[in-house]
Amino acid sequence: MKPGTLKAIGHNIIPPGTQGYAEQAEVLIPQYESIPFGKRHEVALHLLPTTPSRILDIGAGTGVDAAWFAEQGHSVLAVEPTAEFRTAAMRLHPSPLIEWLDDVLPGLEAVLSRGQRFDVVMLSAVWMHLDEAERRAGMPRLVSLLAPGGLMLLSLRHGPIPSGRRMFEVSGEETMALARQHGLKAVLNTQTGSLLPGNVAADVTWTRLAFRQEG
Ligand SMILES: C[S@@+](CC[C@H](N)C(=O)[O-])C[C@H]1O[C@@H](n2cnc3c(N)ncnc32)[C@H](O)[C@@H]1O
Repeated sequence: MKPGTLKAIGHNIIPPGTQGYAEQAEVLIPQYESIPFGKRHEVALHLLPTTPSRILDIGAGTGVDAAWFAEQGHSVLAVEPTAEFRTAAMRLHPSPLIEWLDDVLPGLEAVLSRGQRFDVVMLSAVWMHLDEAERRAGMPRLVSLLAPGGLMLLSLRHGPIPSGRRMFEVSGEETMALARQHGLKAVLNTQTGSLLPGNVAADVTWTRLAFRQEG
């Protein structure tokens, strides 16, 4: 894999959930880069694999999480539909262990067409961008991408919706019930505050979930 490899499937319409990101990318890129992985995902660190593994980071943004996984020796497929974030990510975090792909939930057609399975499927601050029908369509696809024993990590943002963005109030309970229908059990369900000063002031909170296959 070459550093910063990018494969485009090409889409002419704005994919569900990405509204507002291209326009605000210049402001958001330094924000996303400002909080290190260990702080963002502190409550889930104990669940992560310690030997080189296959990671799927969906809605990977500027690649801050993908870069951390690559530094640990994992190989990462980083999926991001907003071109402005992908371009910044490849410049900020060039790594032979990260491959970038232009694809979008709930279909994930480009990811699924590769026939790969992953030890970690990560959706950090992405799932609440999908409406209910999209979440119902997306969940079985995500589950089908998990390798046996694999972990799905997912965070949900609660609070005021930033202007220009498309976001829904999605509860941890609803997400756990949907995951359960597809054979996943929750191994983490924690509420945390926000780490960005602006979001702290706006009372933004997070539900942090992790799942593994039942049985
Ligand atoms: C709040 S940002 C989070 C970025 C990164 N995961 C992080 O935690 O820093 C949400 C990301 O989800 C992406 N996104 C929105 N809707 C999406 C969809 N339907 N499929 C895949 N990614 C989506 C956006 O382009 C954006 O990069």
